[in-house]
Amino acid sequence: MKKRDSFLSLAVPDISDEEINEVVDSLKSGWISVGPKVKQFEKEFAQYHEVKHAIATSSCTTAMFIAAKLLGIQRGDYVIVPTITWQSTANIVEQLDATPLFCDAEKDTLNIKVEDVEKYIKQYGSKIKAIIPVHVSGLPVDIDRFSGISEKYNIPILYDAAHAVFSSYKNKMVGQFGKMSCFSFYATKNITTGDGGMITTNDDELAEQCRIWSYHGLPKDSWKRYSEEGGSPHVQCVVPGYKFNLTDLQAAIGLAQLRRKEELIEKRNSLIQYYNELFSGLDYIQTPVFETEFGRWANHVYVITILDEKVNRDQFMNELRQLNIGTNLHFYPVHKNIYYLKKYPDVHLPNAEWLMNRILTLPLCTKYSKEDIKYVVESVKFVYEKLKTKNGVDNV
Ligand SMILES: Cc1ncc(COP(=O)(O)O)c(C=O)c1O
Repeated sequence: MKKRDSFLSLAVPDISDEEINEVVDSLKSGWISVGPKVKQFEKEFAQYHEVKHAIATSSCTTAMFIAAKLLGIQRGDYVIVPTITWQSTANIVEQLDATPLFCDAEKDTLNIKVEDVEKYIKQYGSKIKAIIPVHVSGLPVDIDRFSGISEKYNIPILYDAAHAVFSSYKNKMVGQFGKMSCFSFYATKNITTGDGGMITTNDDELAEQCRIWSYHGLPKDSWKRYSEEGGSPHVQCVVPGYKFNLTDLQAAIGLAQLRRKEELIEKRNSLIQYYNELFSGLDYIQTPVFETEFGRWANHVYVITILDEKVNRDQFMNELRQLNIGTNLHFYPVHKNIYYLKKYPDVHLPNAEWLMNRILTLPLCTKYSKEDIKYVVESVKFVYEKLKTKNGVDNV
């Protein structure tokens, strides 16, 4: 196997002249913090997700913190979360002095196991103050089922939609479901602002509170105070809020990325399809779920599962690195992280604990070519044959 010259990292941001020109425009305009572009980005994002309100934040993590706080989560409460997610889904629950109840994952979709959700509701009843499902890799969870659970038990749903900017459920964009949804625009997400997040909701009161809590507790942000259309600059805080806003420099990137969304979706999907094509017929690899009965979506990450348990996944990652390929894990179960393991040692989730040694995220981003993908797949096949033989000999 001939090693490629340059390192192929997991993903790189796709920044074109369009993004650069938008940022330059902001830099020249005099508005570089909360200004017209944040407002425009919020408006266009809300339109795209067909939801009444979109509130831009500094990250998905800060978005989820504010959203969870506004659902009233506090000391002594329980919140249902998946374990296959990024740490912040559970961290925000801990930060509010509440207890996360970790659910297992489905082995094929990697999404939260709904049976575990129902089991916890039977066990903890009204102490459960919210459920935070994650649309892992952008694959929507069964939203109708969660809406039913929410209605039946009167528990609000806050969707962690960090990966799901391009995702829809039964022809409706995911941002319009649940009490609120939170998105991420981190550097390698489907669309990026460098770092950034968005809360979407159809609830007028929650939207207003999200704005106030994410901007110093003030009922007016700087655009409303200082622009020509803003009126009086006098303002007093009404709650002890945070400073969690997005800036115009970031929103400028986001606006250009949103304009390019069709191009980005198409490119991403064509690379995923190519991956699937090249991997088809291999019995030792499970490829990610790409199409569902629920409709259109685009993988944020391409996660394969190495089904042959004789092959060590970490060795697999190291071998790929030797071939100049960067990989990652989406995700190492949160309940197995040092902090959570120490605090909740009795949590055992068999699917997630099996997946944590079997899954592997391969490079995927819209800057990569089919040639790059072909190299990755050929390397995976090469490494598998090498490790299979090696471990086979070791096992004798
Ligand atoms: C599922 C999930 N939730 C939340 C986050 C946090 O996003 P951010 O980095 O924008 O805070 C991430 C980040 O990758 C994520 O993958």
